[in-house]
Amino acid sequence: EQAQKGGYEHFMLKEIYEQPKALQNTITPRVKNGLPNFSSDNVPDELLKNAKAIHITACGTAMHAGLVGKSVMERLARVPVNVDIASEFRYRDPLVNEGDLVIIISQSGETADTLAALRLAKNKGAKTLAIVNVVGSSIAREADCVVYTHAGVEIAVASTKAYMVQLSVLHLLAVRLGLLKGMIDEAEGKRLVSLLGAVGETLEQMLSDTSLVQAAAQHIVQAPDIFFIGRGRDYYLSMEGALKLKEISYIHCEAYAAGELKHGTLSLITDGVPVIALAVEPKLFEKTISNIKEVKARGAYVVAVLSKGVMLDDQTADTSIHLPECDEFTQPFLTAAILQLLAYYTAKGKGLDIDKPRNLAKSVTVE
Ligand code: G6P
Repeated sequence: EQAQKGGYEHFMLKEIYEQPKALQNTITPRVKNGLPNFSSDNVPDELLKNAKAIHITACGTAMHAGLVGKSVMERLARVPVNVDIASEFRYRDPLVNEGDLVIIISQSGETADTLAALRLAKNKGAKTLAIVNVVGSSIAREADCVVYTHAGVEIAVASTKAYMVQLSVLHLLAVRLGLLKGMIDEAEGKRLVSLLGAVGETLEQMLSDTSLVQAAAQHIVQAPDIFFIGRGRDYYLSMEGALKLKEISYIHCEAYAAGELKHGTLSLITDGVPVIALAVEPKLFEKTISNIKEVKARGAYVVAVLSKGVMLDDQTADTSIHLPECDEFTQPFLTAAILQLLAYYTAKGKGLDIDKPRNLAKSVTVE
């Protein structure tokens, strides 16, 4: 096992560091003439172009990737995208019609609820597209078409690199969809694809110095409760950050849409309660900052995740972690990696069994 870890203390850390390569392996085969192209995956353009509505369904981390996918697809293609937890989708008689596209996301391709959701979507006459990591898995075999992510084998129960490459496929699909729906032009498509092509390198540079994240982890390691806040895409990323941290550190973590704080969660913010605040998405920055000030005024210990160059005064945040220089389009990849590292180093600080957290399984093949 030590040999398999390649010098890393845990598989989770190894897998975090494998992300730049996994991104490259997943993105490169889907770029032709500078634009996204899924012909080698046998995804017909008509499937995307004719989709009246899109539904994304998955479990856990894969569902969180779907939420980020929703935000980018709706923005670039102006198509409505619903995201559902597979165990909810399968039992609520979802409004899925013929002509809709259902995107199923799964690392293992074997999750029982996700497989059932796929079968239901097919029964309702929808077209199905699976984003799967494990070749030949049940979901990959049963879906109308499959886009394989090339994360390689993921061993740590807490998913990192599989999520990262799911994000990359969803971004590529969003650009293709935007082009096919006539919502973006070719020049914009090429610009976005070239940004995606470069994100692995930016991530690699970021991973070469994680000292600020490690320092932030030391400040939150003793906390019984931690809150994550953000708006829009940052909220969706917060949900993944909270899941990652709770599953391996056993600290109670909750993600909250920053604008919802005053409708409940604010009552839980007292002296020293850590709040991980994502204020990355440019158009929502000012709004989130005002929410950060609200929690700070109640004594929260604020760790702010910010775009490069953004400076907050001491009254606003206790610690700031900055993304490297990047475009708005690729910010989620870098934010996600910061949150993975924060979870990892917090759990490490507690001396826990990071790769095999209690009560959890890598693949949930029973309901
Ligand atoms: C389990 C794993 C998670 C994963 C989820 C969905 O809960 O521990 O990491 O996100 O299942 O798995 P899938 O293989 O369908 O992506």
